[in-house]
Amino acid sequence: MNKKTVRDVDVQGKRVLMRVDFNVPLKDGNVTDDNRIQAALPSINYLLEQGAALILCSHLGRPKGKVVSELKMDPVAERLSEYIKRPVKKMDDCVGPEVETAVQAMKPGDVILLENTRFHPEEKANDPEFAQKMASLAELYVNDAFGAAHRAHASNVGVAEYLPTVAGLLMEKELKFLGQVVQNPERPYVAILGGAKISDKIGVIESLLEQCDRLLIGGGMANTFFKAMGFETGDSLVEEDAVPTARSLLEDFGGRLVLPVDVVIADAFDNDANAKVVAPNEVNAGWRILDVGPKTIDTFESALGAAKTVVWNGPLGVFEMPNFAKGTFAIAERLANKDALTVIGGGDSAAAVRQANLANQMSHVSTGGGASLEFLEGKTLPGIAVIDDAD
Ligand code: 3PG
Repeated sequence: MNKKTVRDVDVQGKRVLMRVDFNVPLKDGNVTDDNRIQAALPSINYLLEQGAALILCSHLGRPKGKVVSELKMDPVAERLSEYIKRPVKKMDDCVGPEVETAVQAMKPGDVILLENTRFHPEEKANDPEFAQKMASLAELYVNDAFGAAHRAHASNVGVAEYLPTVAGLLMEKELKFLGQVVQNPERPYVAILGGAKISDKIGVIESLLEQCDRLLIGGGMANTFFKAMGFETGDSLVEEDAVPTARSLLEDFGGRLVLPVDVVIADAFDNDANAKVVAPNEVNAGWRILDVGPKTIDTFESALGAAKTVVWNGPLGVFEMPNFAKGTFAIAERLANKDALTVIGGGDSAAAVRQANLANQMSHVSTGGGASLEFLEGKTLPGIAVIDDAD
């Protein structure tokens, strides 16, 4: 994927509109995880050093086209300002006369953060007039919002109709690592998938099974496979609707799929519940699977074996509860010490790797949850498609 980046254009003295993914978790008006803000800093600092006047925009949460005061961008502006050590002027809207006036007065090195783009229904509708209004604020558009690249909205796709469009440095990095996994993985190539549901991951399971040498399955999604194998699953989370799909995946790709050989079960969904390790076909009523067991960790480690490429998305157990976090953290540890290209999909597995303080030991921890899954599935993401191709 050869796309133009911020390094291919002259931004000195120009007004640059950059779409970032500042969709960060908030609690009581504070940003509780600012990894996505930090991940955008290389592009922001680069553009400022190059003499751009920077207009940043992002969505935050799902306000459904209305102003929701808890989803205003103010806490994000504050945190960003601390990182870049200069003022960040937060606007009350992302289009309109006040924004236009503020933007006209900008000088190189100034930073404006527009208000949550999803306060307007036109954002998700990818309304061309709205996109044009945003685009009219700037002379160049930079898309650095990999995490939102699977959405075709006005601020990340529509605006590109009206401005030259290049990738930011985060987008470039995501495309480099995820692109290598999809297009040219060094083999053996092993994928690990976890998380609660298989229904949102069927596409990625199918395409990974075609591409990788081994697919290790853990987390809640393994339960649906157990059900498809005819096992009792007690009170475990099972997606009944997905059982036939799980059955046909087992029939078609059984040899490549590696499922847990033992599981940690508990008599309640509680860290302090009674717990024990059993084989997957020994889960009785009243018990539920909350983690993979120690033999599975060994099995997964040997399946990882000499892997040269590993991609991981989704935790292997309920890692938010310390008693059911062992499988997830053991695999994180194993990957951190592995001489391989290790790419962690965003969302919960990225959170787990950070919680274990191992993020720096991975080749790449993606900032995209849904976006990284769709990319791994081989889909063309609309937010990437609009970026101009390199010459
Ligand atoms: C994400 O957090 O995955 C992205 O920011 C996209 O958010 P969305 O799922 O609300 O579109």
